[in-house]
Amino acid sequence: MNILLNTKAAKPPYAAAKRALELGAEKVIAELKASGLSGRGGAGFPAGVKWETVRNATGSPKYLIINAEESEPGTFKDRQVLSENPHTVIEGALIGALTTGCTQGYIYIRPDYRKPAAAFRTALEEARKAGMLGENACGSGKPFDIEIAHGGGAYICGEETALINSLMGLRGEPNTKPPFPAISGFLEKPTLLSNVETFAYVPWILTHGGEAFGQLGVNGSKGMRLFSVSGDVTRPGNYELPVGTTARELLKAAGGVKGTLKAFIPGGASSAPLPPDMLDTPMDFKPLAQAGSMLGSGAFIAISNKHSMRDIARNVMGFFEDESCGKCSPCRIGCVRINEMLAAKGAPNKDLLLELSDAVMQGSLCGLGMAAPNVVKGGLKYWAQDFGQ
Ligand SMILES: Cc1cc2nc3c(=O)[nH]c(=O)nc-3n(C[C@H](O)[C@H](O)[C@H](O)COP(=O)(O)O)c2cc1C
Ligand code: SF4
Repeated sequence: MNILLNTKAAKPPYAAAKRALELGAEKVIAELKASGLSGRGGAGFPAGVKWETVRNATGSPKYLIINAEESEPGTFKDRQVLSENPHTVIEGALIGALTTGCTQGYIYIRPDYRKPAAAFRTALEEARKAGMLGENACGSGKPFDIEIAHGGGAYICGEETALINSLMGLRGEPNTKPPFPAISGFLEKPTLLSNVETFAYVPWILTHGGEAFGQLGVNGSKGMRLFSVSGDVTRPGNYELPVGTTARELLKAAGGVKGTLKAFIPGGASSAPLPPDMLDTPMDFKPLAQAGSMLGSGAFIAISNKHSMRDIARNVMGFFEDESCGKCSPCRIGCVRINEMLAAKGAPNKDLLLELSDAVMQGSLCGLGMAAPNVVKGGLKYWAQDFGQ
């Protein structure tokens, strides 16, 4: 079953937003909680709890931000949703705004997403014409509109506090948390910030009910989600499947591995690679954490045995070295040192490499540094021979 991909594109008027107005904020939040919808940007925070926090936060005006930076390597789902179904994202954001009291919205889109941005711009105009956005958004008597903002193309600007700083015209660097954006975000006001996909599922949940969405999950998980599949697979692309689908089933949906599978990265470049005997792990936050990795943004990368995991680790760590914003020294210096060790001839000192990885992960201010060495630690754990051990 598909909700967001390869479905008839939604158009105004927005029936789910009208239903949300009839239900009232408390019931909308209850539906979201029942749905089990968790954030699709990487951290997996429960959407209902976030909406409730923003609704209860004091401070005015309140802002809403759609995170369309989509910078985690291997992730390309938001691009397809924005291009094919932009009204679903606008309607989800509108419901979020009406429920939590946000009066101004922004979508932060990475600069190279020209087509998705153009599709979104057209949809915004259609929504305004239909009275869904504007001074009396969806007949609510309250204002809400969305402005398009483009970043400069930095990975770190996908991190919520760095994104907000960038949107405010400051350097795109993360802040320490708390305070979280839900309490103090854009212009230090309560801000409902979520990923494109998170907002996009909201209209279906309001139309069919939170329970119905939750029941779509399998293996004890709730709902549907998008998986970007890439690497050594027959049919790379986006797949919409129940949360909890095993990695093996996901790989099968993408036509299977090209060659012999050596490793898979389940949640984007910042998640630890796992060996093929873990393919029966359900693609959800808890089972993947128990397996020693993470679901992240749901970006699955298949790696065949033609690759050395040391090369993969160098490639990924090279990306993080480039994209480190430099604000804190464990990440700024540590990523460089790890890369130097990986690039040097001969076998690196394994204990030192692990110690350095732990130091970067434990001492970094934000998720970039906290997760960057996962590829090294996972690589050394299962494919030590590739590192000359
Ligand atoms: C280094 C880093 C990069 C991130 N990049 C993105 C991104 O590109 N898109 C995104 O939605 N979330 C990204 N996130 C997660 C956001 O900080 C935030 O948790 C998310 O946008 C919240 O929305 P959600 O609750 O719908 O997931 C990133 C986090 C980190 C630490
Ligand atoms: S961990 Fe890295 S990306 Fe994050 S704030 Fe520190 S230097 Fe910047």
